[in-house]
Amino acid sequence: MRDLTSDTITEAVISTMRDAKDSRLAEILESLVRHVHAFVEEVALTEEEWAQGVDFLTRTGQLCTSTRQEFILLSDVLGVTMLVDALSHRRPAEATQNSVLGPFFRDDRPQQPDAADISAGLPGTPLFFEGLVVDRAGAPVAGAAVDVWHSDADGHYDVDVPGRVDPAMRALFRTDETGHFGFRSIRPSSYPIPGDGTVGELMGATGRSLMRPAHVHLLIEASGFQRVTTMLFPSDDPYLDADPVFGVKQSLVAPYDTYDAGTGPCRGRTDGPYTLLRHTFVLEPVLAD
Ligand code: BEZ
Ligand code: FE
Repeated sequence: MRDLTSDTITEAVISTMRDAKDSRLAEILESLVRHVHAFVEEVALTEEEWAQGVDFLTRTGQLCTSTRQEFILLSDVLGVTMLVDALSHRRPAEATQNSVLGPFFRDDRPQQPDAADISAGLPGTPLFFEGLVVDRAGAPVAGAAVDVWHSDADGHYDVDVPGRVDPAMRALFRTDETGHFGFRSIRPSSYPIPGDGTVGELMGATGRSLMRPAHVHLLIEASGFQRVTTMLFPSDDPYLDADPVFGVKQSLVAPYDTYDAGTGPCRGRTDGPYTLLRHTFVLEPVLAD
């Protein structure tokens, strides 16, 4: 393996990995090398650009801590997270579709009873959420674990604001025998993904907006069913078609119906206007091996 040229170096690199014990690893690395070499050739990458790329990835890694994952954010804004998800979860259109998990999920959230107020008294338009979890045939899924988390009226999660009541706007619920779960909170707002790191640089350099449409995150798990990591977006949000992490699906756009005080289904439960969000989540059975 001497005197390699731009015509022979790709096969030479791949040939060094053919004996990998893990055949899947060999397959992935071969394809990676082919694509990276082809990319370098296609754009005729200069030494200066190569060094810039190395510096960008180095700084991306240096930003990662136990609470910040700049590489996942990079994967999100390059569409890789949603592509991997799409390939991993090919569900029929009637089933609830996945979206990104995002960085704000926490597993140390409190379990709450049906109809609990999880707003921790934070200001905002009251939001009543009524969820139903069913199987393909429409039969209720009882005992499903439903995680809920969302931002406040200014687009901040509880973990974003030092000194805030913690946790807030997040909880774990269990569906009852009718498949129902419900809670009261405040209406979330659209917000920017973290823009103070390398991903922010990339977004700025390419003229992309950081703003995600408002959403309520849900993670639903029930025995015998595929886990659903999803979110519901208000149909009137101005950022639905510019989500920087490509997580919006039409089936996840939901009417966040707003009523004046004293009117609508929740009449008498608030002093001012409120939003009611009702949604049915359809679970797919686990795939047989
Ligand atoms: C979120 O919705 O919480 C989120 C998702 C991906 C990147 C940043 C935030
Ligand atoms: Fe979010």
